[in-house]
Amino acid sequence: MNLPVRPDLVGKQPYGAPQLPEAIQLNVNENPFPPSDALIEDVAKAVAEATATLNRYPDREATGLRSDLAAYLTRATGVPLGLEQLWAANGSNEVLQQVCQAFGGPGRVALGFEPSYSMHPLLAAGTNTGWVAERRAADFTLSAPDAVAAVRKHRPAITFLTTPNNPTGTVIGLDVVRGVCEATDGMVVVDEAYAEFGGIVSAVTLLERFPRLIVSRTMSKAFAGAGLRLGYVAASAEVVDALRLVRLPYHLSALTQAAARAALAHTDELLGTVEAVKAQRDRMVAGIRELGLTVVPTESNFLLFGPWAQPATTWQQLLARGVLVRDVSSGPGLEGWLRVNAGTEAETTAFLQALAHVR
Ligand SMILES: Cc1ncc(COP(=O)(O)O)c(C=O)c1O
Repeated sequence: MNLPVRPDLVGKQPYGAPQLPEAIQLNVNENPFPPSDALIEDVAKAVAEATATLNRYPDREATGLRSDLAAYLTRATGVPLGLEQLWAANGSNEVLQQVCQAFGGPGRVALGFEPSYSMHPLLAAGTNTGWVAERRAADFTLSAPDAVAAVRKHRPAITFLTTPNNPTGTVIGLDVVRGVCEATDGMVVVDEAYAEFGGIVSAVTLLERFPRLIVSRTMSKAFAGAGLRLGYVAASAEVVDALRLVRLPYHLSALTQAAARAALAHTDELLGTVEAVKAQRDRMVAGIRELGLTVVPTESNFLLFGPWAQPATTWQQLLARGVLVRDVSSGPGLEGWLRVNAGTEAETTAFLQALAHVR
């Protein structure tokens, strides 16, 4: 069938990391620790209460949830934030899409520093925003002078900075964020999806100084809530108002709001998994290096390992041994690399054993 799909979408592939529940899934940077019984009970209770109101539309402004998120970020960063500075949606991908809808669009370009999160260019494409990219250094770092030069060259409407960066695990200093904010008259998005693993100083600390700065976070990673679909940004109240122009009415269901608030009440317990995840990541780093392979120094819950002459073959061999990792090798600047995220102790052991066989 010859559908009248938008010409710029013809031939594009949808985002699609394999989902193979029968394998040990270490390919989408999830937190391997499932919710505790206490958390399951509290979420179930909150969802049951919300269910009793399902004949009504949910709170369109997600006021309670945004207040809880503001309180968490204030506690985590030391920066006082009000709910008017927080905006939430179904995963940080959705908030980032809203950013592209509100600040990108036809005739405007977004800038990224590759290799980085592959959804940023896809979100740009989906909103008819142009995409330009500059390369990171060979060790996947990004310096302030290089970032500033790129901004001056491309004059982007939106600049994406990711720290810790996916898929490299590397972090950028606040000097890079500061430099870019000073050099651009566009919006600057700092994607901090993995911030809780990195112990980084959050770009939230720069919000007061730079009203065009947007810091995005998610409950999918350290908060072990990938199935919840809850992401959020901190920004100026004016930015939040702009995002409201493009959001769909009632985009966050009553069930999502209730479940997210119940989960946030367990913040300390959920973030208590971070050290355990990092311990397994460090086991992976040591084990991979013992096999004579290279690991890119990482500040997140995943890492790049290689180099592989035929990464697709290695990926397949690991899968044949029941371990699913991510073949990122076709991405810009990623030739020869595979990515894996930390699992439970047993999953990490299984990965290292499988790797020793295919090495
Ligand atoms: C850098 C980065 N940003 C954002 C996301 C999106 O996460 P979510 O939509 O689950 O919040 C991811 C997911 O892998 C990511 O790696």
